[in-house]
Amino acid sequence: MAEAHCLIFPFPIQGHINPMLQFAKRLVHKGLRVTLILTRYLAKTSPFHSPTIAVETISNGLDDGEPHGFPVSSYLSLLKEHGMASLREALHRLIRCGRPATCIVYDPFITWVPELAGEYGIKTAAFFTQSCAVDYIYHRLYSGDLKIGEEEEKAIELPGLPPLLPADLPSFVTLPESYPSLRDMVTDQFKHIENVDWVFCNTLYELEKEVIDFMAEHAPVKAIGPTIPSMYLDRKLADDTDYGLSVFRPEARLCMDWLNRQEPGSVIYVSFGSLAKLSEAQTAELAHGLKRSKRPFLWVVRAAEQGKLPEGFAAEEVPGLVISWCPQLDVLAHDAVACFVTHCGWNSTLEALCLGVPMVGMPQWTDQTTNSKFVADVWGTGVRAVGDGGIVGRESIEKCIREVMEGEKGEEIRKNVSKWKELAVAAVSEGGSSDRNIDDFVSTLRRLAV
Ligand code: UDX
Repeated sequence: MAEAHCLIFPFPIQGHINPMLQFAKRLVHKGLRVTLILTRYLAKTSPFHSPTIAVETISNGLDDGEPHGFPVSSYLSLLKEHGMASLREALHRLIRCGRPATCIVYDPFITWVPELAGEYGIKTAAFFTQSCAVDYIYHRLYSGDLKIGEEEEKAIELPGLPPLLPADLPSFVTLPESYPSLRDMVTDQFKHIENVDWVFCNTLYELEKEVIDFMAEHAPVKAIGPTIPSMYLDRKLADDTDYGLSVFRPEARLCMDWLNRQEPGSVIYVSFGSLAKLSEAQTAELAHGLKRSKRPFLWVVRAAEQGKLPEGFAAEEVPGLVISWCPQLDVLAHDAVACFVTHCGWNSTLEALCLGVPMVGMPQWTDQTTNSKFVADVWGTGVRAVGDGGIVGRESIEKCIREVMEGEKGEEIRKNVSKWKELAVAAVSEGGSSDRNIDDFVSTLRRLAV
């Protein structure tokens, strides 16, 4: 009897690898054979070791080095040209070894996967790493029925979503001329969507019920999130080891030792994820805002960004620690952490919400604006810091931190995050909404493999 075998093919950037790898681990936990598809460059520079997940590498034509700032459209063309041929070779290799693929779960930025899989009779699942609300907005953009310029101040009304002002929409929608290739990339995700067998969203059904139900009327959409290792959600759930794939080197020991020395519920954790670049002026305002809050802070400033810190800042007598990368889930789960100043990347948003950490949203671009709208106005799990002329000032940052850490509003936010944390635990526990969707997927693959 053949064994079901699922390939997981993430787009090779940190914010897309993390959720797909965690999803892979949940499949393994259900007893499924899983292989991760990585580019050779990524596999070489960020080694991945797992006792349960195999790796197949493919070429993107840049095996010896990926030039900094390489245009995304050129990257996608190279990935298609070289990746298609080498994924084909990998599929043949797996057939020869008696482990043919039953399904490829792929990142829809890699639009050519369904066509290739179709040639081999392999099923496909598109795995959207952003919120369902954002995916829906991008779908409307793709269909041509969402036209908006930043100058229009009118809120738009879409089924299943709250009224959204231009400032709440993803920047690829409101500033098309600033990011033409990225805008194409997010809309092209839907090009072959009618040919896929499943559409997975890394979200919690309870969090985005209305829009998921609406989308499910048109496509096989399933909420399979939150893709957070269960050991962080509830120690009773599963004893999965959190082996990951990190493009950046976490300063784990330094950071966790420092956190262990802080009082419970005292620390502000600050991070803007793997891509966002703050201006020097914004970095300075943030530095001053943190100092004014007079609380200990743990601030992740990626190595390439550290030159933007105000002169002498790291050496000054501030009650904080600046590091270049941290094990974020361990940090958010630590009882010293009371507030997360975040860009509201979708992973960070979900992680904070599911681990019960109130947020101060400082969205920078892409989907972060929409995520922060939901955090502040729909889920009530934080506030959004608003800037003047694009820069959020130190007073505003200090005020927002105080708002989520003190007083009645802070109380309300903490109640809300606890509620979401409970719902997240229920969703991934046996029989929960996410668990059932994964069970259905796994049993379908097993039936297909027989
Ligand atoms: C990007 C986009 O910004 C995001 O909005 C989109 O949804 C996915 O791609 P990124 O900017 O990196 O991602 O942010 P985010 O989605 O928050 O992902 C960052 C990931 O890196 C999270 O899983 C977080 O836990 C991890 N991280 C971040 C660390 O492990 N250590 C750190 O120091 C910072």
